[in-house]
Amino acid sequence: MRLFSVKELSDLKEDTEVLLHGWVQETRTTKNLIFVVFRDHTGLAQLTIRRDSWNGIEVDNIPRESAISVSGTFMVHGKSKTGPEISPSKITILNIAGSPLPLAVSDPVNSDIETRLNNRFLDLRKREVGIIFRVESDLLWGIRKHMSQNGFTEVHTPKIVGTSTEGGSDLFAVRYFEKEAFLNQSPQLYKEILVSSGVNRVFEVGPAFRAEKHNTVRHLNEFTSIDIEMAFSDHNDAMVMLENAVRSGILEVSAGEREVKEALGVEVKVPEVPFPRITFEECVDYLSSKGMAHRDGEDFSPDELRIIGERFTGFYFITRWPASLRPFYTMPDPDDSNYTNSFDLQFRENEITSGAQRVHDPEMLRNRFLAKGLNPDDFSFYLEAFRYGMPPHAGWGLGLERLTMIVLGLKNIREATVFPRDRNRISP
Ligand code: 4AD
Ligand code: MG
Repeated sequence: MRLFSVKELSDLKEDTEVLLHGWVQETRTTKNLIFVVFRDHTGLAQLTIRRDSWNGIEVDNIPRESAISVSGTFMVHGKSKTGPEISPSKITILNIAGSPLPLAVSDPVNSDIETRLNNRFLDLRKREVGIIFRVESDLLWGIRKHMSQNGFTEVHTPKIVGTSTEGGSDLFAVRYFEKEAFLNQSPQLYKEILVSSGVNRVFEVGPAFRAEKHNTVRHLNEFTSIDIEMAFSDHNDAMVMLENAVRSGILEVSAGEREVKEALGVEVKVPEVPFPRITFEECVDYLSSKGMAHRDGEDFSPDELRIIGERFTGFYFITRWPASLRPFYTMPDPDDSNYTNSFDLQFRENEITSGAQRVHDPEMLRNRFLAKGLNPDDFSFYLEAFRYGMPPHAGWGLGLERLTMIVLGLKNIREATVFPRDRNRISP
């Protein structure tokens, strides 16, 4: 007898013998019949048992969410609204669930997010929750495909490091034998060193750590960063690579569009490329035309980004950021060193990606460190790689959870993180 998923049942002929593995979602009984709502990772089916002909285990009281194995026959003409109908010949309990359940699986999502996260293993069994991570996986797969098709090599760089990459104090310190070390904020320095090593194009998918104290619906203290770096390229090349990578990811999600629509009520729209581009200065002018005076030397506030975002239907780039707002490795604009060859990819008020052309000249890089009040000697392992023919290069870092959040229209980044880490949560 072959193992099937619920989704595969619809193609079968009447009376095909099937084996299914999954969970008991609910049991309903009548005088003559027992109905078990059965769930696997693909959907719901109904097990219909006639009391007079049943000689298997007692099924009336199998606790909800117990794991079971079912052998039986597929009933093409079944009348169940639950889903495909099976007439079981044998049911085996693989593992009995305790009761009461700390979180109901069959109800729609209505508990608060903290209760849900505390019981994430049950929360994730809900179809509309589980599907978020199917989508996240598809997004990443589509992006990986794009990087691979464009000659990028996937790399893995250390997460325990000795220095900061993005500047500032958002670092988690860890004890490293006799020394103090940190959890890496970004693979930035390593991907640049790899570009100088002749790999030419690198990308990495891995955790990034930020000790940001504020608790918002857009910030995690550990997130998944998709990072790329490309040699002999500038910021414009990096933006083209990015918009096409994002499109490729969403294209992959759109293959399962119907399920996403059914489970979450969300239409997945594949964006057109190129995405619109607007400079930082144009944004400032636009804000002032709307009566908002942007404060010099400051990042855009969420309110300002909301106003700017209203000009666009979806993704857009903000380019040419002031040097004071970008990290030391960012290439100044050759026409005006107060600005940089940099960009953010935005969706409405949400920042999805930051990227730039990087400084490749070692002297200029030393000066950038000094201008930012950093000691170049702390970065000697990085600077060394620039002295021996470092190519001009560019790249970006994209937050996977942020992308999932905007593709599915989720209100809180924690929804797009299996086990989120925030200001108050390090468990489960
Ligand atoms: O803008 P960030 O800090 O840029 C960098 O890390 C650069 N090294 C990237 C580069 O190649 N120039 O982070 C990049 C992206 C953000 O746009 C955002 O999507 C995500 O990472 N991100 C976060 N996501 C969730 N929680 C946080 N605390 C995040 N911080 C950044
Ligand atoms: Mg950024």
